[in-house]
Formats: sequence, structure tokens, C-alpha cells
Amino acid sequence: MAPESGIVEVFNAGQGRDDVIPLWAGEGDLPTPQFICDAAKQSLDNGETFYTYQRGIPELRSALAEYHQRVFGQAFAPERFFVTGSGMQSIQLAIQAIASSGEEVLVPAPTWPNIEAALGIRGVKPVSVPLREVPEGWELDVNDLESSITPKTAAIFLNSPSNPTGWVASEEVLRQVLGLARKHGLWIIADEI
Ligand SMILES: Cc1ncc(COP(=O)(O)O)c(C=O)c1O
Repeated sequence: MAPESGIVEVFNAGQGRDDVIPLWAGEGDLPTPQFICDAAKQSLDNGETFYTYQRGIPELRSALAEYHQRVFGQAFAPERFFVTGSGMQSIQLAIQAIASSGEEVLVPAPTWPNIEAALGIRGVKPVSVPLREVPEGWELDVNDLESSITPKTAAIFLNSPSNPTGWVASEEVLRQVLGLARKHGLWIIADEI
């Protein structure tokens, strides 16, 4: 069973109170832009309330592929993109797909507690790899990751930009993590929320 989430506990205690500033969840404080509200209303009015493509509507998957092509300068097939209901759902699916009960996943820490809970309910052991504190903030030493690898390690969970530290992996660190994963045959779950 997953432990009670401290985030939810704080959320529930503060919900509905206008004398506290809600910093418990990572969401903006601006209302949803009008064009998005309009599209949602239009969609309801059009009767688009039935089952749709399970992997995401084709136009959206194509738009995601084009976005990645623009940002990373290489071609991606739309078939490689899957749309889920939330970030957490993607994480659960990724864990289900690549790690079995009794295996381990490396998680740079401090970390967002839901990651450890998501691994825990699958019987997968989260192995914390402490980020190092440096004057500029935090740093991941890839040697620390490597020395935590065991025969049971299935994956590295990389959350960058990180909640809660704000740590952002440099391109060099990302390349080192990729090299490590290839060397040891590990998956990378990249949570770039
Ligand atoms: C690091 C990180 N990953 C995933 C999520 C989950 O996103 P969602 O609310 O879409 O499930 C959050 C939400 O705060 C988060 O901080």
C-alpha cells in the first residue's frame, strides 16, 4: 500500500481557505486561457464525449512530434508519442512497462515523494542517490549513480527540472546519464514536467 501523501494532507487542510496561499501543488495561479476554455466548450457542444483514440488523437500526436523535431532538430514519428491523462499516469505506465517487483530504480534525491510511492506500489525499490549541495544549488555526480547500480537495477528516474530542488541537468550530465544507461542496459524514465 502507498503511504498517505503529505502533499494531499496539506492540500486537504488548506482547501477552501482564503487566508493561505496554496503552494502545495505545482500549478499556476492564472486562469486557463480563453481559447482553451472555448475549445473545451465547443468540444462538449459538438458531442465529443465518447471514446476516442486510446493513444491520443492523431493531430495531437503529430503536433507533439513536430514540436520535438523543432526543439531537438531531428525527426520523430508521431507513433512514438502517447497521450495520457496526467504526468502521474505516464509515470505509473512507464514503471509498469519496464520494472518488475523486486527490482530497483535509482532516484536522485531530494525527490518528489510520489515517485517513491509509485515505485513502491509496484513492489519496485526506490534507491535514493543524493544530489550534492554546491554553492550554485545542486549537482548530480554520475559516479554516485553508477556506484548505486546493482544486478537488480532496472532504470534511472531522472526528474529535471526537479521538484522540489529546482535542479536542472546540464546537457553534459544528460549525456553522462545516457552513457551510463547504455553501458549497464538500464532504462531512463525522464520526468521533464
Ligand atoms: C516532478 C513531477 N512529476 C510529475 C507530476 C505529476 O503531474 P500530474 O499532476 O500531471 O499527474 C508532478 C506534479 O506536481 C511533479 O511535480
